[in-house]
Amino acid sequence: MTKSLQAPHPLTLIPGPVEFTDEVLQAMATPSESHVSPQFISVFGDALALLRQLFFNTDKTAQPFAIAGGGTLGWDVVASNLIEPGEDALVLHTGYFADSFADCITAYGGKPTQLKAPIGQRPSLQAIEEELKKKSYKVVTITHVDTSTGVLSDIKSVAAIVRKVSPATLVVVDGVCSVGVEEIRFDEWDIDFVLTAPQKAIGVPAGLSIFIASGRALDVFKSRKSPVTSYYASLAKWLPIVQAYEAKKPAYFSTPPVQNIHALLASLKQILAVPLEDRFAAHIRTSDHVKSTIEAYGLSQVASQDGARAHGMTAVFLPDGVTLAELLPRISKRGIVLAGGLHKEIAAKYFRIGHMGVSVTDEDRGDFEKALAAIKESLVEVGYKI
Ligand SMILES: Cc1ncc(COP(=O)(O)O)c(C=O)c1O
Repeated sequence: MTKSLQAPHPLTLIPGPVEFTDEVLQAMATPSESHVSPQFISVFGDALALLRQLFFNTDKTAQPFAIAGGGTLGWDVVASNLIEPGEDALVLHTGYFADSFADCITAYGGKPTQLKAPIGQRPSLQAIEEELKKKSYKVVTITHVDTSTGVLSDIKSVAAIVRKVSPATLVVVDGVCSVGVEEIRFDEWDIDFVLTAPQKAIGVPAGLSIFIASGRALDVFKSRKSPVTSYYASLAKWLPIVQAYEAKKPAYFSTPPVQNIHALLASLKQILAVPLEDRFAAHIRTSDHVKSTIEAYGLSQVASQDGARAHGMTAVFLPDGVTLAELLPRISKRGIVLAGGLHKEIAAKYFRIGHMGVSVTDEDRGDFEKALAAIKESLVEVGYKI
């Protein structure tokens, strides 16, 4: 680790935003530049090409996008372009973010059906298969990692079931808390749409909505019977823009966030400088270390099923009698920022640790030694016996 150029700051180890590298932050300080200058067109085009690599995508009928916005905007893109009013969507529920995605689908006139599992678990593949046989779903949405619970979904198996039982149904993945940390083989697993945001495992400040649509998804959008139900989120507006930038040609719909795109390119270059498999393995190692240490402290995880736990975050139940208000400020006093609970039904009962990006890949930083020590000391301070 070289000495950081960043001002001293509390270590942000929440499930996004994560810590950023100096190179990414310096890229945010790019001087002003025309969004249709040859220099910027080249940067944007390169960033789109590298996004394909992040998704293991080589099929050119698919198209990556990066537009100003957030992860949430990806839901609007799905709900207003891929689903027509009155059509059914199956929303696989593993926590808070499925409720929000379902709300977004409803806002555009779609009809979401949520398939739920007990808190901390994911719907079984058998339950998904049975549900798919009940009606003709236009899309299935899966939260790859639900940031409220740390539950990891098996998107490869779900996609395979969809293709077997209901081949025309589009497979849509909310990868906001998974892209850059969990394996996603977009072409090979036959996925139709992955939406994400940069502030988690991609390691770039918030401000972008990043997504990739398959050729099948784009065909479904192009053959809509009713008009697209959004304006800014319309694929009809954005498809020609990203196609032009990727072909290194100028185009305009709404001004791209030039500095954010520079930062995205800087981060993708860093991420892709090592094989993605090594990056995933590093996150698995750190995740295993955090989870086993937490368990050694006598604490249990919200995500309760083996093999269904995220590798970029851990959601941890508080010990009996200890509150978030007692614990988190003590951890914060030790220079570590963790997150409280988010799942509506259990929010006060747990906290979350993010382990994504440079905190994981640069082991010399020792970020998790510091965080785990801070958690232990704070637990002892509030009277918990380890
Ligand atoms: C799984 C998941 N989906 C969607 C979102 C929404 O993303 P954003 O906050 O960038 O709009 C988040 C945010 O944390 C998330 O964790």
